[in-house]
Amino acid sequence: MNKHTSEITDAEESLRVQQEMSQFDSDDATALAMQNTLLTPRFYTTDFDEMDRIDVTPVRADWDDLINDMVSDPNKGHFKKNADWDHVDWDGMEPMLKKEFIDFLVSSCTAEFSGCVLYKEMKRRGNNDDITQLFQLMARDEARHAGFINDALREAGVSVNLGFLTQKKKYTYFRPKFIYYATYLSEKIGYARYITIFRHLEANPEFRFHPIFKWFEEWCGDEYRHGEAFALLMKTDPKLTKGFNVFWIKFFLTAVFATMYVRDHQRPVFHKALGVDPDWYAHEVYIKTSEMTKQIFPITLDIENPRWQRGLEKLQKANLDLADAVEKGQVLRKLGAQARAGMAFVSLFTIPALKHECPASVRMAPAY
Ligand SMILES: [Fe+2]
Ligand SMILES: [Fe+2]
Repeated sequence: MNKHTSEITDAEESLRVQQEMSQFDSDDATALAMQNTLLTPRFYTTDFDEMDRIDVTPVRADWDDLINDMVSDPNKGHFKKNADWDHVDWDGMEPMLKKEFIDFLVSSCTAEFSGCVLYKEMKRRGNNDDITQLFQLMARDEARHAGFINDALREAGVSVNLGFLTQKKKYTYFRPKFIYYATYLSEKIGYARYITIFRHLEANPEFRFHPIFKWFEEWCGDEYRHGEAFALLMKTDPKLTKGFNVFWIKFFLTAVFATMYVRDHQRPVFHKALGVDPDWYAHEVYIKTSEMTKQIFPITLDIENPRWQRGLEKLQKANLDLADAVEKGQVLRKLGAQARAGMAFVSLFTIPALKHECPASVRMAPAY
């Protein structure tokens, strides 16, 4: 149990605790959310006029089904604390766990909010009723998700300033098709991540060190539906999943999977507290996500190829060295680590993909 600084007599220890605690004030949480590195969630903008021209006629029946589902709002009222919200002993939490867990919550909150901002903007700028309705519904869900995480953070005396982020965080421009690939994948991988943790904690409740994980089952239902929506949007234009675009699909699959691996390995104490081996977890999530993306992508990554795990480990190691070199101001070592990270990514990207036929109808029910 970590002492409060007012009870500590040794200055070194006091400084160390203060150093750790400084991670937890709101300015720092917002600063963390403001970061734009390869590994932190970004905010996106796109060509909203092009997206507004999408015609969902080719997938009308599935589209209406999905929209009706979302309009019925199965998770209305779900994202608030109730009797299931056990007391959280933030002060008694082991400092490294607290740091990594808060980092996880801030990053999740930023990612949820990033979806909210993009979807809200599409709703605001569009004139196409199908598209604006979908994006309004998705923005509704993401705002709830971000808000709920912020509720959890506030108990720890931390909150992410979402208004400030909207105005000040840098927006990255992506062409609509890249938004489809990236957002579709992040929704589906989000579903896979939440459900994998939920099922693990269902079987091993002794590892559930915070009540927020109890909310993950319904939560991932929202992400699942969002993913379905992007699958349908891509289905309206067969060119999006053919020819040279398959190269881009492979690129996004590799980038999203690899980013998850490196990011999760930055939080060893958090994963240990959950009783989750990050390598096992990554693999589980890759299997589930690959299975789901067969609905629309004509390839999946060969995650059982021995080069895959080796490449991930090299990338992760290079990333650790990179962070260390940056912290110590070692320019040459930094360049070396960057080059190694780049090579590791190329090695992952060049593993031959597995090809398959996509089903005629896109819609799938959640299976996990
Ligand atoms: Fe979400
Ligand atoms: Fe989502």
